[in-house]
This record gives sequence, structure tokens and C-alpha cells, in this order.
Amino acid sequence: MTLPILIHPDPRLKKVSAPVTDSSDALRELADKMLHAMYEAPGIGLAAPQVGVLSRMIVLDCVKEEGAPARPIVMLNPEVVEVSDALNTYEEGCLSIPDQFADVTRPADVTVAWMDLDGNAQKETFDGLWATCVQHEIDHLEGKLFIDYLKPLKRQLITRKMVKLKRERARA
Ligand code: NI
Repeated sequence: MTLPILIHPDPRLKKVSAPVTDSSDALRELADKMLHAMYEAPGIGLAAPQVGVLSRMIVLDCVKEEGAPARPIVMLNPEVVEVSDALNTYEEGCLSIPDQFADVTRPADVTVAWMDLDGNAQKETFDGLWATCVQHEIDHLEGKLFIDYLKPLKRQLITRKMVKLKRERARA
């Protein structure tokens, strides 16, 4: 069964997630399920709080080119350790805010340190869509959504639409 993804507004999406202390089998299983849910949605990133688990884990795969091999990455305790002065604006969306998109400006390049599922320290610099996506997912671990970067009116409009969507889904 595919993991259900929480829809905003939900108090769990506003919480700061706790660090992961070890790379257990349970965590590996959760990562597999999260990747499955992400690909099926389809999406390019998913954070554990979006499936109701308040742990610092994200998954992402921003390969978009047709026919290019998938590159699923699982990050435990990811941390942005360096950002470029150069900025980049992307139209962002979120699996917890279906069908809503808005421009968000973030650093164009980011270096991220994390632990992989084998407990090894990893570090990589991302650019383009990968840079935007990894920052968006790490924000989720701080209880922050992309709509928090928007003007209050626009944010409220989107939130109202989501409340309505959730009401409709609950009735269906
Ligand atoms: Ni998101």
C-alpha cells in the first residue's frame, strides 16, 4: 500500500522534526516506502513529516530527462552547509499542497551534508532543480512550507483551497 501523504493544513507539517540517531532497518523500510510514494505521486522530493513521521529524513530524485537513469537519494539529518550568493527562482509545488504552484527564490547552489542509510557521512553540492528541491525538503524538517515564502494573502488563498480540498476528500 502506498503511504498516504498529509495535506496542508496539518499540525504535523508545522513541527520541527527530530534528528535520526541510527540507520535502522525500520528507517530503510520507511525510505523505500517514501520513494515509492514520491515516484507514484509523481513528485521529485518527499520529507518524512509529510507522511506523519517527525524524523529528519528526506528522499529526492530530480532527474527529469526522458530515459535518464533514476537517481534516488535518501538523506538522514541533511544540513545546508554552504549557499551561493547567486539566487534562482523556480515555480515550486509540494505533494502536501496539490495543484498549487508559486515562484520561490532561493540560493542557486547549495552544499548539503547528510548521513546515508549505511551511516556514512555524505556531502555534495547541488545546482538547478536539485538545489531548489533539496532546500524545499529540508525546510519541511523545520516545519516550513514553500507557501511560507509567499505574501500572506496568497498563502491564505492557497490554504483556503486546501481546506476545501480536504473537506471534499473526506466526503468522497
Ligand atoms: Ni513539499
